[in-house]
Amino acid sequence: MPMSKIKRIGILTAGGDAPGLNAAVRGVGKTALGRHGLEVIGIRDGYLGLLQNRTIPLDSKALAGILTVGGTILGTSRIKPHRMADEDGNVRDMRDAIVKNYEKLGLDALVCIGGGGTNLNAQKLCEKGLNIVTLPKTIDNDVAMTDTAIGFDTALGIATEALDRLHSTAHSHHRIIIAEIMGHRAGWLTLGAGVAGGADVILIPEIPYDEKNVAKAIRRRSANGTNFSIIAVAEGALSSEDAARFKALKHRKSKAEDQESRLEAKAELTALDKQHSGNTLRLSQQLEQLTGLESRVTILGYVQRGGTPSEVDRLLGTRLGTVAVDLVMHRVFGVMVAARGEDVIPVPIKDVAGKRKEIPLDHQWIECARAVGTCLGDQ
Ligand code: F6P
Repeated sequence: MPMSKIKRIGILTAGGDAPGLNAAVRGVGKTALGRHGLEVIGIRDGYLGLLQNRTIPLDSKALAGILTVGGTILGTSRIKPHRMADEDGNVRDMRDAIVKNYEKLGLDALVCIGGGGTNLNAQKLCEKGLNIVTLPKTIDNDVAMTDTAIGFDTALGIATEALDRLHSTAHSHHRIIIAEIMGHRAGWLTLGAGVAGGADVILIPEIPYDEKNVAKAIRRRSANGTNFSIIAVAEGALSSEDAARFKALKHRKSKAEDQESRLEAKAELTALDKQHSGNTLRLSQQLEQLTGLESRVTILGYVQRGGTPSEVDRLLGTRLGTVAVDLVMHRVFGVMVAARGEDVIPVPIKDVAGKRKEIPLDHQWIECARAVGTCLGDQ
């Protein structure tokens, strides 16, 4: 039985927005329209649009001029089709409704652009028979099986420029300036920007810190006549104490014998996870007491996800998008288009789903930070 011809594909963007998303949408769309004569359907707001049948046709007019535009013209959401809360708060598996809409739209394939969560959702839909290819996107750079992800390079530039600018007030006022940088539970963005921005202290989730070590490094700088310090702290960085609490709570949750104790441990874990800016402010107060210097905090937040993508992310988004369509045309599904050195290769989504790429403790970026005398909070 000959395979049916690929005629119509859908594209969706899910998870946190990132610069370069529209470059990827354009790469997929222009390749599909121009090289293969396909029809392209834009799905609104991630998987939610597929559930609610909210789409926009992506013709060449719709794709014109979006390469340099930040965010996503399609909109995004973080919903999980296999675990959706309804209005009564009950968690329901809505995948069958999504499959029905996918078929009603007459889609032959779906391209999903997102991070770890998007790949997990995609895998759950592959299990229901949808033909899916994904592209890695997140400023956190924590998607497994790919060297990098769309959005990381732009955010790296934004965070680095912020650290450059924060040097002015630090040396003018002889202050400790702490910049909190995004990255969820991985330290790539903070470590990269910290090294590029010449931070004196870099604190990342992978290396629990002791504030006394940080204070010692700052006092050493003062003793050498430099009475200001720049600290790059990841939003997910934890003190050694909180890291121990986090580990104990995860253990308690995994060993919970009943639903109530499991939910209790989960609630405490969520609270600990969400207190990150509180951790940064607490560190600032601790350092003022331990060093006698004034300390100020800047939380970079969503500025790191904003504005036009860098040339690197435009190139990456376009490259991955064009390869995604080629894979669709060869009916290679259930894969993510991964960046590997100069190459781009398909990797099974099931090997990406639900995983987080953290910084290995022997990573060259960690070694180079230590080599130039940066304090990482652990010694
Ligand atoms: O995943 C990208 C990211 O910006 C993380 O760095 C950050 O922790 C999270 O999204 C914020 O999520 P939201 O956009 O839902 O507030």
